[in-house]
Amino acid sequence: MKIAIDGPAGAGKSTLARRLAEKLNYIYIDTGAMYRALTWEALRKEININNATIMAELARTTDIHFMINSSQRVICNGIDITEQIRTPEVTLAVSQVAAHREVRELMVSKQQQMAQAVSVVMDGRDIGECVMPDADYKFYITASIKERTRRRAAELKANGYEASEQNISKEIQDRDYNDTHRTTGALKVLKDSIIIDTSNLTIDEALNTLLEIIER
Ligand code: DC
Repeated sequence: MKIAIDGPAGAGKSTLARRLAEKLNYIYIDTGAMYRALTWEALRKEININNATIMAELARTTDIHFMINSSQRVICNGIDITEQIRTPEVTLAVSQVAAHREVRELMVSKQQQMAQAVSVVMDGRDIGECVMPDADYKFYITASIKERTRRRAAELKANGYEASEQNISKEIQDRDYNDTHRTTGALKVLKDSIIIDTSNLTIDEALNTLLEIIER
């Protein structure tokens, strides 16, 4: 079985997808982490992330994969960068990296290979449309800007970063704009999307909503 989970940043997608995969005993694939890893590598090498040709070359020559210990680790050219890909610098730059057509084609192809053999829950922006158009379920997880800002502020604080709600809200809205307006793989609600608004739901409530739909 293939389950696609798409939606904007901060809607609770990744936590939900991971919990759903655990519950069903499926493999969880966080495709955002792959774009983040490539962004981290570009920033580390001081590459101009707006140069499509250089970024495509970097995507072709960078090995990004997941390793499963007690938690899922993100490995980039042999280095564990699980924590580094969540820094504000990477978050700020990642939607520019994800906008390059060739970068996306390479990522989508890798993700399709990962999705082949086993049952998966995959989360991202273009999973239902591009990566797994044949998915058994296509969930579109969303929440209000206010709630997404609140969650992101709490997450930053927990990781030791300070930022005003105003700045966080703007960053979320800028990223939404980039993610929904690019020419390939833009985030959108599909004809067969099942929309779940998590603004007023706890993670457990949202998880139960998904499980009920799948079990039904
Ligand atoms: O889910 P996330 O916030 O970790 O994703 C990071 C960025 O990567 C986000 O700005 C959108 C982009 N992304 C994408 O374009 N396509 C995907 N399948 C997953 C993420």
